[in-house]
Amino acid sequence: MINMAVFASGNGSNFQSIYEATKSGRLKANIALVVCNKPDAYVIERAKACEIPCFVCSPKNFSSKEDYEKAILQELEKAGVEFLVLAGYMRLVGPTLLQPYKNRIVNIHPSLLPAFPGIDAIGQAFNAGVKVIGITVHFVDEGMDTGPIIDQQAIRIEDEDTRETIEQRIHEIEHRFYPLVLNKLFGQLVRDRG
Ligand code: GRF
Repeated sequence: MINMAVFASGNGSNFQSIYEATKSGRLKANIALVVCNKPDAYVIERAKACEIPCFVCSPKNFSSKEDYEKAILQELEKAGVEFLVLAGYMRLVGPTLLQPYKNRIVNIHPSLLPAFPGIDAIGQAFNAGVKVIGITVHFVDEGMDTGPIIDQQAIRIEDEDTRETIEQRIHEIEHRFYPLVLNKLFGQLVRDRG
C-alpha cells in the first residue's frame, strides 16, 4: 500500500474526502502525514480529528525556500512517505522536494488546465463566461499548474448557476474524483513495482 502525505493550506475538505476514501477502502493507500504551511488552517483540526500526524511548517520561519522544504523532507522521510498529494497547497514546490519525489507529486486544480491556472481558477472561469469548466489532476513540476495531466472531469455551467453554486458543484465533484484518480494511479504504481 502506498504511504502518502497530503499537503494543504486551508480548509482541507479534499484531505477529508481522501482520508474517508482510505478508511472505506475506496482508496487503497495510507495517509502517513499532513503537511500544512499555515498555522491557522482548518485542515490542522481535521487532521487531529482523524488522528493523522500533521506537520505545520511556516515558510516565514526559514531563511530560504530550500531550508523550508528541507525541514519538510526530513519529516516525510521520517514518516516513510512515498507519494505527495497536494490538495489546496498554495505554494509552488521547489527542487528540494521535486527531485526526491520525481513523478510522485500530484495536484488537483479546479479548472480544465491549461485554462485558468493559478489562484482563483473558479473566479477566472466565471468571469470569462465559459460554459464548461472542470477539474484537473496533474503531476507537479516547477511551474504553476503546468505538469502532465493525469485526468480531467468537465462540468457544464447552467444558466441558473452562480459563482457560489459553481464552487459548490466543483468541490463536490473534486471530493469524489480525486480519491478515484489516486486509486488508479497507486494501483498502477504498485503493479509496476511488482
Ligand atoms: C480545491 O478547490 C482544489 O482544487 C484547489 O484548492 C481547493 C482546496 O480546497 N487546489 P480544500 O482546502 O480541499 O477544501
